[in-house]
Parts: sequence; C-alpha cells; structure tokens
Amino acid sequence: MSTQGEVRKITTHTLQEMKRHGEPIAMLTAYDFSMAKIIDAAGMDVILVGDSASNVMAGHETTLPITLDEMIYHAASVVRAVRRSLVVVDLPFGSYQGNSKEALNSAIRIMKETGAHAVKMEGGREIREAVERILSAGVPVMGHLGLTPQSIYKFGTYVVRAKEEAEAQRLREDSQLLERLGCFSIVLEKIPAALAREVSSGLKIPTIGIGAGNGTDGQVLVLHDMLGINKDFNPRFLRRYMSLFDDIRKATEHYIADVKSKDFPNEQEQY
Ligand code: KIV
Repeated sequence: MSTQGEVRKITTHTLQEMKRHGEPIAMLTAYDFSMAKIIDAAGMDVILVGDSASNVMAGHETTLPITLDEMIYHAASVVRAVRRSLVVVDLPFGSYQGNSKEALNSAIRIMKETGAHAVKMEGGREIREAVERILSAGVPVMGHLGLTPQSIYKFGTYVVRAKEEAEAQRLREDSQLLERLGCFSIVLEKIPAALAREVSSGLKIPTIGIGAGNGTDGQVLVLHDMLGINKDFNPRFLRRYMSLFDDIRKATEHYIADVKSKDFPNEQEQY
C-alpha cells in the first residue's frame, strides 16, 4: 500500500527492481475469481494463469488440450479479482507455434479480452519470430525453458531436463536470447539447481524457478499442488502448505451427514 492507501501495483519493471535488490519474487497459479482474490490479498507478486488449468481445472492428462478461448475465460476471471499482482497468462499449445502472425493474434486476444498484463510462452530459439512479433506489439513476454510441458510428447517423460551438457548449453544460449529479444522474465522448470543458479546470475532479467532450486530470482508453484487439493502429484520439489483434499472431503462428509440426519438446517438457519 502507498501512504494514500492506494494499492501499489506490481509491474514488469517492479520485478526487474526486485532482482536488482535481491528480493525474491513469489508467483503462484490461479484460474478463477475467488482463489485469485485470496492470493492477491495475501500479497502475491505474480499470478500465473497457467495452462496447468488443463490438468487441475479440466482434468486432462496434459496441458495440450486447453484452448485459447478457455484460457481467456480463466484469465478474465482472475483479472476481475486482482488489485495488486501482475497477471501473466500462458499462451496455450497451438496458439503460437504455427506462425508469428497467429502468435501475435493470440497474444492480442489475451490482452484485449482479459485485461491481463503479460503472456508466457514455452521455448527458446524455435519460437524467436513469434516472441519478437509479440514484443514489438508492446505485449510483455515471460519465457519458459527447461521442462516445457507443451512438448511432453517430444520429451516422453516429465523427468529433470538439461542434465546433459549439450542441452544445458542450449538452455544457457536460449536464456540469453530471450533476454536480448526483450522478455521481462523467464520460468526455469525442473532443471539442475546449479544450472538454474548459473543461468540466473548471467541474466539481468529475473528467473522464476519450479523444481530448479533456490538460486533463481523467484519461485512458482501450481496452486492446487501447494494447497494439497491434488493428492496424486508428489514431485520432490513440491512443498505442500495444506491438505485441502482431506479437509474439503471431511467438511463435505459432515454436511452430507447433517442433511441426512436433518440436523441441517436448524431453527437459526431458517426464516
Ligand atoms: O502452467 C503452469 O502452471 C506453468 C507453471 C508450472 C510454471 O507453466
């Protein structure tokens, strides 16, 4: 808050300043109005409307099926709730890899129809033209290197990436390229901690890690994983802060029992 009680909004510039001052950046995903309102009120720096919505909201096995229209629906819901956080939206699979004109149209739809502040795109040199075109239209771009879930069928598995020197070198070069092109930040997913630290210290723009150790400039987790809503996903990098699956199930069982026993509603709960 400022002295006038106005909310000081986080911008891409704020994130660069945070890196300069060594202040870690906190990022979390959200996909709907109610959750985004809580997360924003908690003081989150960046809210990512991730295409992980495909998994945790829609129940798909991968992030590939989610559409641009569906991402726009989620992102617009999040933006309506947010007062302070920077809102970044994933460009979904198929909305930017075809050609750079289509990529720009997708980014423009997200910015116009949701009110979000930036887009995120997976990949390095192979999406260079699309990144350049979107940036030159004035849309801030967050990069995403390492494990890029939209390419899961190319990788074959979700194991740690860039353990071999050739892939690590490609990632170093891609991170430098994305910075040169003008990206404001890069997500580093599931790569060795030493490599993430080295890449982060070689860049002026902040990196946000997930499964990349504590040498990055910030951290991101998927909301449903850190709240324990999703019990089936247990990677080593995940820290759970709640066990909401169990808590919500217990509350629901309690409600069912109250309805069945006619305990609910009682005299005070009726007109
Ligand atoms: O879609 C997503 O949630 C992401 C994060 C895991 C970085 O891309």
